[in-house]
Amino acid sequence: MPAEPPHSAPTDGPRHVAVIMDGNGRWAAARGLPRAMGHREGVKALKRTVQAAPRFGIRCLTVFGFSTENWSRPPEEVSDLMGLVRSYVASDLRRLEREGVRVRVLGRRTGLPADIVAIIDHAEATTAHNDKFLLQVAFNYGGRADIVDAAQRHIEAVLAGRATGPLDEETLGLGLSTAGSPPVDVIVRTSGEQRLSNFLLWEAAYAELVYQNVLWPDYGEDGLADVVEQYRNRDRRFGGRTAPVEAAAPALAAG
Ligand code: FPP
Repeated sequence: MPAEPPHSAPTDGPRHVAVIMDGNGRWAAARGLPRAMGHREGVKALKRTVQAAPRFGIRCLTVFGFSTENWSRPPEEVSDLMGLVRSYVASDLRRLEREGVRVRVLGRRTGLPADIVAIIDHAEATTAHNDKFLLQVAFNYGGRADIVDAAQRHIEAVLAGRATGPLDEETLGLGLSTAGSPPVDVIVRTSGEQRLSNFLLWEAAYAELVYQNVLWPDYGEDGLADVVEQYRNRDRRFGGRTAPVEAAAPALAAG
């Protein structure tokens, strides 16, 4: 990836949107359907969202497909979720490749079925040269595990004489599976739940959080339009102060 320019001004739209695609099960239950149907509709929503994102100036989309905690779901559901990767890549890789989308899968490969690892490696290799849009799918991913892995990589590099201590934020960031992607501007969670659930913990430091009441299978262009609108109305300070606050309340600002 090319070097990243500084963060966008507050009035700009987000360049990197990360999404916790929640509510597939509830969508299915509300229709008396098996959960697998909710996940299958979730894949359609993902395709709609990826296609709509560039229209809003978004350059990178990161989605939570399977967490390290999702292994605790019943085996049939875990198997359904693995099957989604097979069908998504089989049905969409050629189009993603053609449309300039680079696919990257975040998370641990260990523990995944061998054919899934091969599919992921193939999708990454086939699209590695694309630079119009970056689609990152977090799969067998946990934010804490990703930070531990980055720290472990550094320890190993120090022990092998390839790096020196002490560990700093920049070095740790380069060891994360998101290294090289633009800073996360906004994290969206659908279905009305309001928590991060171990998603992008490091990257969330200064991200805006947007919670939407829509269930993921119903998601698409309208949902993204609402995210962009909310984002543009946020005042991103990154720990600093902004001119309007000082102008509106000089006495407080001076204090
Ligand atoms: C949360 O809904 C969603 C998931 C655990 C899986 C998300 C996966 C997709 C949307 C499919 C696309 C993914 C890939 C990798 C192609 P939930 O089951 O927790 O819903 P609930 O909270 O309503 O029960």
